[in-house]
Amino acid sequence: MNPFTVRYDSAHFCDRKKELGKLRANTSNGLNTLIHSPRRLGKTALIYHLFHNLERSGKYETLFVDLFATTKMEDLIKVLSEKILEKYHKKNFFEGITNILKGITTTLSISQDGTPELGIRLTESNKVKTLNQLLNYLENRKKKVVVAFDEFQEVVKYPEKAEAVLRTAIQPLSNIIFLFSGSTNHLLQEMFLSPKRPFYQSTEVLVLGKIDRKMYFNFIKTTFEKNSKYIEKEGVDYILDFTECYTYYTQVIANQVYYQTEEKMTEKDVRMIVSEYLESKKTDYQNLLNLLPENQKKLAISVANEEVVGKPTSMEFIMKHKLPSISSVAQAIKALTEKEILYKDTEGYSVYDLFFKRFLQRYYSHK
Ligand SMILES: Nc1ncnc2c1ncn2[C@@H]1O[C@H](COP(=O)(O)OP(=O)(O)OP(=O)(O)O)[C@@H](O)[C@H]1O
Ligand SMILES: [Mg+2]
Repeated sequence: MNPFTVRYDSAHFCDRKKELGKLRANTSNGLNTLIHSPRRLGKTALIYHLFHNLERSGKYETLFVDLFATTKMEDLIKVLSEKILEKYHKKNFFEGITNILKGITTTLSISQDGTPELGIRLTESNKVKTLNQLLNYLENRKKKVVVAFDEFQEVVKYPEKAEAVLRTAIQPLSNIIFLFSGSTNHLLQEMFLSPKRPFYQSTEVLVLGKIDRKMYFNFIKTTFEKNSKYIEKEGVDYILDFTECYTYYTQVIANQVYYQTEEKMTEKDVRMIVSEYLESKKTDYQNLLNLLPENQKKLAISVANEEVVGKPTSMEFIMKHKLPSISSVAQAIKALTEKEILYKDTEGYSVYDLFFKRFLQRYYSHK
């Protein structure tokens, strides 16, 4: 099996010791934590790894609840119920349902992988009751329970006043520790940073950064060696330069390089593999680019060529890249940021998807 996976694998997990230490400390101190970072840096994998360790310690029970596909409170209740059934009532889902969803009309089907799929109909009045019932079930477990709500920003989009309902339901609990996680964006930030909102300052915050370059370097090098393969150190450096140490992209490239290594991998071959990989993405990225209106296309290309742009509406940038006008650029920035093609941080704007950036730099170079 390829040790550079793009799925969580406890045996091939790189570093994150500091972050895990902080999360473990928060857990044992009964503190809830918000984890956020740009996309694909490793939030979900970090939670899985923490849960793996907590479960192994024997002191905690963990529940991972992915809210990605949820659009309303009822969905959240449904996913949480399914997770509870799967964890505590695997032998008898029906018995489980009568236990955790008393008085609620439900239908149950079992998916191919054996996980329960619930159908729930909730009235306005019994939503809160059901949520409390589920949380109480966890509150009364003997062991401490850690619940992670991943992609928590989805809650903001629910039609109900879900934030307030959740905050009220969560506040009195003492046996459950919560992790909230999602990608850094205005929805999530406003939720926790705006004084008017229910979750304001209610949690510890962990902003996940990139994995330390030296750590990643050693991880790649030794993973090759453990599997009786050798990679030149310049080859590893080339990977990390190309991916900027960005977790997902590093894993993908390391995966490609690893499986094409018989015994020894040279820097020259790494360069070739990376180049071929980018080539393989060409059609998809070309299509993505072609879908953009002209002013957005030009802006994306210009930003990619600059790597980071502090002020894209400056005359200097507009003139240099022959962009149409300040207003058109301003409009394009807004649209591209909303589409998550551009990402804004304290240094400025950059292309969010690193492979897309490399594609633009290679095929639409301004140099
Ligand atoms: N410490 C790590 N060691 C090895 N691989 C990792 C590590 N952290 C994350 N990964 C891998 O990197 C990829 C991105 O990680 P993950 O999906 O956890 O990111 P995320 O921040 O949750 O992304 P998103 O915001 O899109 O949900 C995954 O393929 C994951 O398996
Ligand atoms: Mg994730």
